[in-house]
Amino acid sequence: MSETTLIDEATRVRKNAHAPYSNFKVGCALRSVEGNLYVGCNVENVAYPEGTCAEAGAIAAMIAAGDTRIAEVAVIADSPAPVPPCGGCRQKLAEFADLDAPITMATTEGKTEATQVGTLLPGLFTAAHMTK
Ligand code: THU
Repeated sequence: MSETTLIDEATRVRKNAHAPYSNFKVGCALRSVEGNLYVGCNVENVAYPEGTCAEAGAIAAMIAAGDTRIAEVAVIADSPAPVPPCGGCRQKLAEFADLDAPITMATTEGKTEATQVGTLLPGLFTAAHMTK
């Protein structure tokens, strides 16, 4: 699947975001290593910390469907610069993606920036840190 298609899908799902508190809608699309496409949008809550990010939604959809690994991700928002995943989402992505998995960050105005999971999260916490 091409990058354009992932951005298109992230753009489409972004419209469904529930963001009445921040008014900042985010869309995420990911392709699994198994070859399937999953999307997520942010879902806010009046109890603010209960809100979830677009990336978390897409990851949950992938795992619920039975796929196991992320190959590629796109995230989009109406922001002045391409929107990066938040810190928590970086760790969530790293759980299921190789460090060189590509992430395309995009704005609704058409700006894009390419990065990788490992670039966004240097020094990440891994299972190896729990092994003596
Ligand atoms: N948000 C995401 O969905 N993904 C990110 O990586 C950045 C932040 C959402 C969370 C919240 O609903 C809104 O954007 C403002 O922080």
